[in-house]
Amino acid sequence: MTGPQPPADPDRPGTGHPQPHPSGTPAHHRTTHPATHPTAAGATLVIGATGTTGSRVARRLLALGHPVTAASRGAAAPTEGAGPDQPPAPTDGASPDRPTAPPDGTAPTHGSVPPPRARPVRFDWYDPTTFTAALARAERVYLVPPVSEPDPLPVMLPFLRQARAAGAGRAVLLSSSAVPAGGPAIGQVHAALGELFDTWSAVRPSWFMQNFTGRHPHAARGRGDGLLSTATGTGRVAFVDADDIAAVAVHALTADPPPAADLVVTGPEALSYAEAAAVLSEFAGRPISHAPISVPELRDRLAAHLPPAYAAFLADLDGAIAAGAEDRVTDTVTRLTGRPPRTFRDHLAAHRGALAPLSPRA
Ligand SMILES: NC(=O)c1ccc[n+]([C@@H]2O[C@H](COP(=O)([O-])OP(=O)(O)OC[C@H]3O[C@@H](n4cnc5c(N)ncnc54)[C@H](OP(=O)(O)O)[C@@H]3O)[C@@H](O)[C@H]2O)c1
Repeated sequence: MTGPQPPADPDRPGTGHPQPHPSGTPAHHRTTHPATHPTAAGATLVIGATGTTGSRVARRLLALGHPVTAASRGAAAPTEGAGPDQPPAPTDGASPDRPTAPPDGTAPTHGSVPPPRARPVRFDWYDPTTFTAALARAERVYLVPPVSEPDPLPVMLPFLRQARAAGAGRAVLLSSSAVPAGGPAIGQVHAALGELFDTWSAVRPSWFMQNFTGRHPHAARGRGDGLLSTATGTGRVAFVDADDIAAVAVHALTADPPPAADLVVTGPEALSYAEAAAVLSEFAGRPISHAPISVPELRDRLAAHLPPAYAAFLADLDGAIAAGAEDRVTDTVTRLTGRPPRTFRDHLAAHRGALAPLSPRA
């Protein structure tokens, strides 16, 4: 990303979005194949089911009674007698048709094991031998892209083609508010979905509130030296709670008719990092502040532990924020879920424990 993006309108398809079908059916919702809707037998394959959004998507689907296949690299490979055609195996002793997850789908900040009552399956974007078992009985797929991959399209395309051939008719891609269809990295995958799936959406969240309360470096710095380093300057971001992202994703996976294909998901208010740090300080009870750095400095810092191209991509996103690209809010959460998105204050109030200092202070 080399510059600011125009504000995205969630109801206005972005670059590369398919044109309306001659039938009048939205191009992202064609019924040239059966099985685009949930059936008793069909499952939703949730990729990244141990992650921030995937764990929440899986729990919400289970709470609604949808079978879930929970994909992660750490799950055991299928064994004889427990193959992909077996029904989902309860992993917590609960009945699969009586979900015990909270009805609002709230979940731990980040799971490290697949959600209970989902069928766990080993899946690795970089290991095509894991694709077939993961796709068994999958009618819908939630796609968390390969982590830190600067060019995800060639990595994801073989799986997406196989998913379609195996009968998955609906796909929901986790993208980013900063990347339109046809844009760099995940924007290329977004632009390809229309050729692959009958029904699809790109969920494009703003930056996660969980970056301050989960396993993101900002959370660690907030609990450590209290300095949040970004190259965003005074630019604002409409931070969004991952629970709201998951609620939108589940709507996109299950609603009939489906929502718009391009869903920019934000929280209710845009804050600069200095403003966010002030609210964090209030809830943490100690000073947390924004430490502005330049885009090249951020790129070099990130490149210490990320592929250089991905480090440059992320640093440029901060530059775009500084230029005002993320200073907007959308009504996507309210429109699709019937309730407003969580505020940053409400998020922090619910995650006070995650703000505790890493070591006691004198
Ligand atoms: N953080 C933000 O502010 C923000 C904002 C907008 C968009 N995003 C996007 O959100 C995405 C991250 O999503 P998230 O927060 O839900 O995930 P996450 O919490 O970072 O977790 C990543 C998930 O992907 C799985 N995974 C990692 N490598 C994998 C591989 N090679 N094959 C298959 N699965 C793999 C991990 O599971 P295992 O380790 O168990 O395999 C884990 O469940 C990124 O694409 C990012 O661009 C983030």
